[in-house]
Amino acid sequence: MFPLPEWAPNVHPLIVHFPIGILFTAALFDLVGLVLRQQDFPRRAAMMLYALGGIAATAAYFTGEAAADSVFLPTEANALLTEHSDLGHYVFYFFGGYAVVRVITFFAGLERMFLLRAAMAVLGVAGLGLLTYTADHGAEMVFRYGVGVQAVDAGPAVVAAPSDSSQVGPQVLDAGGWMWKPTRAAAWRQHMVIDGNLASSSMRDGGEQDGAPRGDVLGLTPGAGPVTIWFEHPMETAQIDAALNLDSFDGSVMFVHNLIDAQNYHFTVLTDGEMRQGVSENRDLYVMDAKPYDASDWHSYRVVSDRTHFRAYADEALVTHGHGDAAPSGHIGLRLSGEGTVLVDFMQVVPVR
Ligand code: HEM
Repeated sequence: MFPLPEWAPNVHPLIVHFPIGILFTAALFDLVGLVLRQQDFPRRAAMMLYALGGIAATAAYFTGEAAADSVFLPTEANALLTEHSDLGHYVFYFFGGYAVVRVITFFAGLERMFLLRAAMAVLGVAGLGLLTYTADHGAEMVFRYGVGVQAVDAGPAVVAAPSDSSQVGPQVLDAGGWMWKPTRAAAWRQHMVIDGNLASSSMRDGGEQDGAPRGDVLGLTPGAGPVTIWFEHPMETAQIDAALNLDSFDGSVMFVHNLIDAQNYHFTVLTDGEMRQGVSENRDLYVMDAKPYDASDWHSYRVVSDRTHFRAYADEALVTHGHGDAAPSGHIGLRLSGEGTVLVDFMQVVPVR
């Protein structure tokens, strides 16, 4: 592999111009070939270019998959990435298959049937519409939201303590979603649903991070068995930002989302040196993705639930990326199971669409 320039986020932006350029040129030769039917060169050139274009689209697809896992996105770009990724899959299937068909029909001599040739040319042009739409989404991510651009800061939301100290539970945001910066040990309980045994909750010193004091944070200590805590505010898509510390806890900590009840929800769990993503259906757990992960110390977490795409980040780096059936609308919260105390600095949830 050739070395990437230090400023480039990944190889995808360098590759994507090839399928776009090659496939448009292929279609042009195809149309010219239909007009100049006696000339053999346009017909051969179109076949060669479609074959090359299929290879280039395959490269764009695989580098795109890797790119999606390497970038940290501003909130507004989450839905665009989901759509661009889905479209990128269709481009890969379409032009991968189309290239094979073109090579076969060329060598089998079927292209000499004018009607078939014309129909295939039209199909190729239709595929360019899909390609354009895909590239448009990719370019919008970069040029509107600065995805992968070093000068743009896509960092997680910084949540300040509510100015009104009577606001002790999560506060609904004007733009949708909610934020929770705990300031009291127990008064928040009446604003949230607690399913299971929460032995205690207390405010305590959050210590320091990068030399700066974190201030007071909430300590949650579950009793026997798992406890699920959520705010009743159903959302279909969500970006969850939170800062947690699990140093005094031995067990599993889940971000639960698209939660219908304590048995049916999607989750991102930190447990046994792993981060896992999945879904609980009537208590049966299905894992979509799992990666090694060390949760010691304070970390900023981000979980994105966007229809069939689920991404989870720690400190702005993607850890798990799962796919599954579209998640239904549901609530968001935490589920704790184990011994000790989990420290929660804040949680903020915003819709991604
Ligand atoms: C297969 C056809 C694909 C095409 C033609 C395509 C095209 C593009 C284009 C034109 C851009 C803007 C690049 C620029 O401004 O220089 C882009 C960016 C991007 N695309 Fe794709 N894409 C494809 C597949 C995918 C897939 C399957 C994914 C993810 C699963 C993906 C993820 C991304 C990401 C994350 C960016 C932002 C820039 C970066 O970090 O690379 N792409 N794409």
